[in-house]
Amino acid sequence: MIAVTGATGNVGRALVERLVTAGRPVRALTRGPERARLPAGAETVRLQYDDPAALFEGATKLFLYVQAGGDRTPGLLAAARAAGVRHVVLLSSAIIEPGADETHPIHVMHATAERQVRDSGLAWTFLRPGAFAANAFQWAPQIRTGDTVRGVFADARSAPVHEDDIAAVAERALLDDGHEGAAHRLTGPEAVTNTGQVAAIGHALGRDLRFTELPPDEAGPELFPHVPPGMLTALLKSFAAMVGTAPEITDTVREITGRPARPFAAWAEDHTAGFRN
Ligand SMILES: NC(=O)c1ccc[n+]([C@@H]2O[C@H](COP(=O)([O-])OP(=O)(O)OC[C@H]3O[C@@H](n4cnc5c(N)ncnc54)[C@H](OP(=O)(O)O)[C@@H]3O)[C@@H](O)[C@H]2O)c1
Repeated sequence: MIAVTGATGNVGRALVERLVTAGRPVRALTRGPERARLPAGAETVRLQYDDPAALFEGATKLFLYVQAGGDRTPGLLAAARAAGVRHVVLLSSAIIEPGADETHPIHVMHATAERQVRDSGLAWTFLRPGAFAANAFQWAPQIRTGDTVRGVFADARSAPVHEDDIAAVAERALLDDGHEGAAHRLTGPEAVTNTGQVAAIGHALGRDLRFTELPPDEAGPELFPHVPPGMLTALLKSFAAMVGTAPEITDTVREITGRPARPFAAWAEDHTAGFRN
């Protein structure tokens, strides 16, 4: 049995679908099973913390998603170990690299989780993806209502990674031997600017979409209303650093899955429904 946390998220959902398709027993953990819409082949269980051991009964592997303020992680790891889990695959971040700003809140979150996993006594594999292609959903409300996307840093370049490519690597790390102690850096196959991403979404939708750049300090709070102010400053600083800089591009998805990572245009084709009314 493989337990998957964050099972309704971008990566977790893709992973649950893959494991069900592969015929593997999978337990999908979610705070809201009633709204989760997970595949019938998965055992969907409410994520609750008063009896964490019950979450992992019969499980030998764990896919672990962490979020800001993830002070539940050590408790979950201890419960998993006590229940018989032997290997955890952690969804970390490419922000963990030598020379990184260790005070950046996203770095702190993932470095803390990696340390907690290392300290857990479980065998581990870290997945360190760069920017998710799914971040483009930030523009969905605007794209549903018009052809102009207002955003920051039109020329910021990234190599967005398809969530199902991350899930495909997670699947191999969970099912195959040889990934224990490895940290896999995952990216998409090519660099694309924000302007290019919006154009690709437009192409997939059969529409001519344009990106209009706004000044980040003024527009940041409006464009990212759910990001806490401290985090927003760090986020905008990260975006600024992506202008005029070539993003890291790895071949890890192909090396591990045997299939190259999908370009952003393919992600856009796969997700047109998310941009339509
Ligand atoms: N976006 C990027 O570019 C990027 C890049 C590198 C790494 N990452 C990392 O990848 C992770 C995000 O992965 P994702 O996009 O697959 O996840 P996601 O879609 O943001 O969310 C995963 C699921 O976690 C659950 N969740 C949300 N907040 C929670 C909380 N406070 N406590 C417990 N459960 C919570 C929700 O499910 P339920 O409501 O069903 O419980 C949600 O569907 C983060 O750790 C992020 O830092 C992201």
